Amino acid sequence: MTEAANECGLILAAAGSGRRYGTAIPKQFSSLEGKPVYLRALETFFPYVSEIVIVTPQDWTAKVTEEIAQVAAPIRIKVQAGGDHRQQSVQNGLRRLSSDIGWVLVHDAARPFVSQSLVERVLDRARQTGAAIPVLPVHDTVKEVDAERVIGTVDRSRLRLAQTPQGFRRDLLEQAFAEAYRQGFMGTDESALVERLGERVRIVEGESSNVKITRRSDLKDRGR
Ligand code: CTP
Ligand code: MG
Repeated sequence: MTEAANECGLILAAAGSGRRYGTAIPKQFSSLEGKPVYLRALETFFPYVSEIVIVTPQDWTAKVTEEIAQVAAPIRIKVQAGGDHRQQSVQNGLRRLSSDIGWVLVHDAARPFVSQSLVERVLDRARQTGAAIPVLPVHDTVKEVDAERVIGTVDRSRLRLAQTPQGFRRDLLEQAFAEAYRQGFMGTDESALVERLGERVRIVEGESSNVKITRRSDLKDRGR
């Protein structure tokens, strides 16, 4: 990475197996209204990034490379094999970013409904501050429990649900991954790694429509 690196890159995390969704083809490669789920999210980012690294399961790299060649993309797209955990997949993607990339967005391929205004909101705030993520308020009452009983009720006004895309200054994100690796820490999003550095992560308003497809009902509930 050079001093002047100011371009933004996207890492699209698409290397999961979709165990909870339960289809033979991982959910991000299944067809949603005639288009693979991962391609829907991908195209939303075209106006904002100059490079995309799609991280896929090892045995999907050839097929995705073939599919991507059919897409009239205005930017560089690379395909990279992922790892057993999401964090390893994103780390593999991070290593593939070109030297002109100084800003990184990380997005779940399983969130195909992300809007351009959300991408813009996250990227603007990240460029201003170094790290930004979209969040939603928690509307349900939240209980802390053990195996059989309620231990207490959590103050939900201070809780938020984290979404993607999450945006970071590249060197900050690389430092966060290096430190997490050194400490053997495994997080469920990139923000968690940056938080552990003691760095501030800013929040922007997420979108309830930006669901992560996890179970079959996530699409049925939307009438899809
Ligand atoms: N992901 C990834 N590499 C992994 C695991 C997950 O790139 N080793 C990606 C998924 O493809 C998905 C996103 O991270 O786009 C969020 O993960 P999740 O919704 O948990 O997807 P899966 O891990 O595929 O689903 P499951 O946990 O049900 O197996
Ligand atoms: Mg998973």
